[in-house]
Amino acid sequence: MSSKRNGIRAEVGERWRFLRRYVRNPNLVGAIAPSSKALAAAVCEPFRLAKGASTVLEVGAGTGAVTRHLGRILREADRLDICEIQPEFADILEHEVLCSPDFIPAVQRGRVRLLRQAVQTLPGENRYDFVISGLPLSAFELVELEEVFSVIRRCLKPDGVFSYFEYVGLRKTSRVLSFGRRRARMRDVSRYLNQNIRAHEFDRHTVLGNFPPAHARHLRFSA
Ligand SMILES: C[S@@+](CC[C@H](N)C(=O)[O-])C[C@H]1O[C@@H](n2cnc3c(N)ncnc32)[C@H](O)[C@@H]1O
Repeated sequence: MSSKRNGIRAEVGERWRFLRRYVRNPNLVGAIAPSSKALAAAVCEPFRLAKGASTVLEVGAGTGAVTRHLGRILREADRLDICEIQPEFADILEHEVLCSPDFIPAVQRGRVRLLRQAVQTLPGENRYDFVISGLPLSAFELVELEEVFSVIRRCLKPDGVFSYFEYVGLRKTSRVLSFGRRRARMRDVSRYLNQNIRAHEFDRHTVLGNFPPAHARHLRFSA
């Protein structure tokens, strides 16, 4: 009973810290609450179904809603890099998420790394089988979004999978409700995302059990 109460208290605390960061920097955080368990599971599904050892990059990990799910499905030979730009969230990942029993063995064996940096600064190419994103893609300027996609494509192996989520109807609603430069930005960003979805999406799940409801999208750039 008391461990259940502690769990609820921790979850409320996490939501509060998330909301506080959102109020300070809405464009960087891009959501008022962490993802639900159902959305975390949907966005990680191609990785869960993978056969054999995989290398995974999570970008925009926040307070770890998706990371925690990854910890539960990580296999012994898998490797996971977690990228988060905001120091306060990276501290939570380091001191609360990566210290949990799901992660301790993998962290001790050097199979999980926390990268405290912007996704745009990630080096290397052909490194990952899966990139799983919580980034607020539709909040970026078009040039930033193009850069983020080009880094993700460079980092993915040729057959790798890019999984991300976006809130149902958010892009359309934001476009209708905004004016001038903001509306033009949203139109350009939306066009870019739609082009990528049309050309590369091979699977999509709509998750109603999240606030707000979201699409988990899965893209393969070789397709
Ligand atoms: C919508 S939150 C998602 C948090 C978590 N993955 C979830 O699903 O609850 C977006 C996260 O992306 C991070 N972020 C935004 N821009 C970033 C960038 N350029 N590089 C790395 N992380 C970034 C923010 O700090 C924030 O933690």
